Amino acid sequence: MNVRAHAKINLSLAVTGVRPDGYHEIRTVFQSLALHDTLRFAHADDGLAIECSAPGVPLDERNLVWKAARTVWDAAGRRGEPCGRVRITKRIPAQGGLGGGSADGAAALVGWDRLWHAGLSAGRLRELACGLGADVPFFLSAGTAVGLNRGDDIRPLDDGPARWVVLVFPPFGVSTPEAFGWWDEDRGRRPQADLLPVVNDLEVPVSRRHPELLEIRRELERAGAESAAMTGSGSTIFGLFATRVAARAASDRARAAGWRSLVTRTATRAQARPG
Ligand code: C5P
Repeated sequence: MNVRAHAKINLSLAVTGVRPDGYHEIRTVFQSLALHDTLRFAHADDGLAIECSAPGVPLDERNLVWKAARTVWDAAGRRGEPCGRVRITKRIPAQGGLGGGSADGAAALVGWDRLWHAGLSAGRLRELACGLGADVPFFLSAGTAVGLNRGDDIRPLDDGPARWVVLVFPPFGVSTPEAFGWWDEDRGRRPQADLLPVVNDLEVPVSRRHPELLEIRRELERAGAESAAMTGSGSTIFGLFATRVAARAASDRARAAGWRSLVTRTATRAQARPG
């Protein structure tokens, strides 16, 4: 049984406050992409096993796919250890702000629920998603949505106009706690004028430490992007284009300048919902 886990970008992200539990209040617009990982589930009777096509991904309880197994198993009232196998075909780069780990976590909630005939309701799956991470609830709903509070209070929007999306990957990743930590450090500092308009508040502190991000954004703007910004906590920069030809040309330019890049599309809710 296969379940797709679609990547996301943040079309906008405002940090609106800090919560007593250390998390940040945000207001963001999530957008699903056609780019996706695929999770293939199968029965097993000797515990849990995760395989992944990409090296460097933890295959134990640190993986959200593993945590999802434990949480679905317990919520279904099963005893003992969860039993099942999953193979992850990874296409979404890690530490890129594309939600790769969280998308896999949401897809795994759906996949384990189905494999074990747990019959958990949509509301129960949403609760379990919140426990896995702030970004996970979006991936259950997918499409275009506003995320409030930790980003986990999801208000679905109608699907927006389809766009071609150029992703450019700098040669470094940024972890989410690191990006929010830099935002805390820089509080009160004004953004550099060349970052205006600020589409993503986290882009300001992250670009200050990694000026290469600004170069990438400028390259995409010069190539005619309708909008270009960092996604989530970085480090991927995206550009939106109306046509495939323009997107291809921008991606080729980014590659000629030495960056890794790919072209994908926005995905509707119906296309990107796990299942
Ligand atoms: O929820 P998740 O495990 O994805 O978050 C990872 C870390 O990112 C949190 O421990 C926190 O440091 C930071 N974070 C935050 N505010 C958010 C989301 C994440 O400070 N809204």
